[in-house]
Amino acid sequence: MSPFTIAVAGKGGVGKTTFSALSIRHLHRAVNEVVLAVDADPNANLHAKLGIAPGKTIGEIREELLADGDKLPAGVSKQEHVDYQIRLALTEGDGFDILTMGRQEGPGCYCYVNNILRTFVDSLSEKYKFIVIDNEAGMEHLSRRTTRTSDVLFVVSDASKAALESATRIASLAREMNLEIGRMALVRNMLGPGAGDIRGPEGFDAVYSVRNSAKIRSGIVESESLLTIPPDDHAYQDIAKAVDEERKLSR
Ligand SMILES: Nc1ncnc2c1ncn2[C@@H]1O[C@H](COP(=O)(O)OP(=O)(O)O)[C@@H](O)[C@H]1O
Ligand SMILES: [Mg+2]
Repeated sequence: MSPFTIAVAGKGGVGKTTFSALSIRHLHRAVNEVVLAVDADPNANLHAKLGIAPGKTIGEIREELLADGDKLPAGVSKQEHVDYQIRLALTEGDGFDILTMGRQEGPGCYCYVNNILRTFVDSLSEKYKFIVIDNEAGMEHLSRRTTRTSDVLFVVSDASKAALESATRIASLAREMNLEIGRMALVRNMLGPGAGDIRGPEGFDAVYSVRNSAKIRSGIVESESLLTIPPDDHAYQDIAKAVDEERKLSR
C-alpha cells in the first residue's frame, strides 16, 4: 500500500513547520512507525524543530553530481553513485527519517540529475507508511509538484486576512491544476480564546483549529525543538486531532 502522505502549505510564518513537526511526532507515537519527513522548504528548518542537526541536502547532492560530471568512482554506475549519496542525505531521528530538499534547481537544464533524484525519492517513499512534507511558503511548490500525490493537503493560516486569502488561493490553484490530492483541509492556527467558528472558506473539505500555545512560542527562544513540548499542550493536541481525523477520512 502506498504511504499515507500529508503535505503542508500556506503563507510564510503561519506555522507550517510547527504543524509538520508535531504531526510527525504524533504519527510516530500513535502508530509506532518511522515517519518519512520531507523538508521541501529551501529555508529548511524542519530538522531544527525535530531536534536534530541538518543533513546534506538533495540540492547539494545535485550540485556535486553536476560539478563532478562523469567522474565516478571506478566500477560504480551513476545510479549507484546517486543512491549512495542520497542514503547519506537521509538523516535518522527519534521516530522519523528526514530528507531535506534544499535549494531548488537553478535555470540550467538539470533534468537528468533531477530525474534520478526524483525516482529515488519516489522509491524511497514506498518504504514508509507515513510521509509528511513541509513546503515552502506560497504556492510555487504546487507548480513544481513537490506536493505530488498526497492524501491530504493541510493549508495553514493564522487569523490574518492575508493568510486566509493566501490559503484560499492555494486551495483553488491546487484544484485547477488537478493535482493528485485526496482532501484539502484548512488549519486555522494560533487561535486565541475568543476565536469563533468560521464558515469554512470555499474549496476546503474540512476546517481545523489549532490553539495558540505559549510553550511553542517560547520554545523557539531556547531550543527550536518541538520534541520537548508536553503531550498535553493544547496546540499539539489540536494538531494530533486534525491528523487523526484525516487519517480516518482518507482511508
Ligand atoms: N499554535 C501555535 N502557538 C504559538 N506559536 C505558534 C503556533 N504555531 C506556530 N507558532 C510560532 O509561529 C512562528 C512561525 O511558525 P513556523 O512553523 O516556523 O511557520 P512557517 O513554517 O509557516 O513559516 C514560530 O515562532 C512558531 O513557534
Ligand atoms: Mg517553515
